[in-house]
Amino acid sequence: MTIVSQRAQSLGTENAFIVLAEVNRLIREGRDILSFCIGQPDFHTPQHIQDAAVSAIREGKHGYTPSAGIAELRDAVAKELSRTRGIEVLPDDVVIAAGAKPFIGYTIASVTDYGAGDEVIYPVPGFPIYESQIKANGAVGVPIFLRESRQFSFDPQELADKITPRTKLLILNSPQNPTGGIIPRKDMEAIADILRQHPQVWIFADEIYGRLIYDGEFVSIASLPGMQERTIISDGCSKTYAMTGWRLGYIANRKLAPFFTTWITNTESCASQITQWAGVQALNGPQDDANRMRDIFHQRRELIVGLLNEVPGIHCQSPGGAFYAWPNVTEACQLTGCRDSEEFRKRLLNEAGVAVLADIHFGQRVEGEGQHIRLSYAASDEAIREGVRRMAEFVKKQMK
Ligand SMILES: Cc1ncc(COP(=O)(O)O)c(C=O)c1O
Repeated sequence: MTIVSQRAQSLGTENAFIVLAEVNRLIREGRDILSFCIGQPDFHTPQHIQDAAVSAIREGKHGYTPSAGIAELRDAVAKELSRTRGIEVLPDDVVIAAGAKPFIGYTIASVTDYGAGDEVIYPVPGFPIYESQIKANGAVGVPIFLRESRQFSFDPQELADKITPRTKLLILNSPQNPTGGIIPRKDMEAIADILRQHPQVWIFADEIYGRLIYDGEFVSIASLPGMQERTIISDGCSKTYAMTGWRLGYIANRKLAPFFTTWITNTESCASQITQWAGVQALNGPQDDANRMRDIFHQRRELIVGLLNEVPGIHCQSPGGAFYAWPNVTEACQLTGCRDSEEFRKRLLNEAGVAVLADIHFGQRVEGEGQHIRLSYAASDEAIREGVRRMAEFVKKQMK
């Protein structure tokens, strides 16, 4: 009898895709659902970027490329990362892939050994692929907890306590999915101070939302003294340029770049050449559209946070970046007789026609932090107004 490996069976997933399938099924059945589930901009990719891709096709630039990516794009990425992080990144440090996501697995596989007890510290709540890839690669996951009282940053002391001689990798994500929190400079400096005492620890800096900042500043740990060499800076075009389906991500790290290149030769061969030319245009071309989209997200943040805080039993901080709101719904669960955020999410979907994700879709619930849900506000103002109105109506109905 054939068997499926433990590794494949233990693979995690992104529940956003599962809930989305559920939402799509309900919509096909004729239900009126407003979805705040999926983390992707609701804008069209800017015209000049589309045109660059069309030109690439017409000019026959659609064959394989070197696994690390075309020189023009590696050059553009190196300039962009150098400029925005205040460091010197060379084109040879840069590797391109079909999205930033593949680098999560490549990194864990490149700095830990299967079953050797190598530890990876990762944020909870956090992007679910971190935990899934840690497990699939036979490493030991060590969660570090994000706290509402710290605007969803973690306490650097908790990091200091969790590092052991077996720690090989720390995953940072700022601005963060799912909370929208950003790691402030003083915390980033404290993190760097701690890491200086542990030179064996790599850092995966997931900076995919780095251009979507509304309060405070974006700080890359790579820009702090001594950190660049050991940091894998991960970024891409998905969120900044509304290019999620194009699949274009990139990393920079001098020592690991050749290994990432070999991983890509072993897996996808290269990112789509057509998309890579679009990426050159995205990075080197005018930034007006990217800035306009960021400004719109900023306005929507104001709108959704204000409205959510008017719903009985819901308390929502104003997230510093990305396009997610992470309201605390502990009281709303009590008011509506829901056991937890997951039951609240299901009832919101079925009884109010509002699709959101629950905290358990982003790892274990953090003890003492209550119940949360995630709303992606990559949705129109009308959808936001109507969605939150339905939430309020649902809660009020249960209260009577
Ligand atoms: C924190 C985080 N990292 C990485 C990714 C992956 O982005 P990409 O589309 O470039 O693969 C996402 C996408 O949702 C994300 O939220």
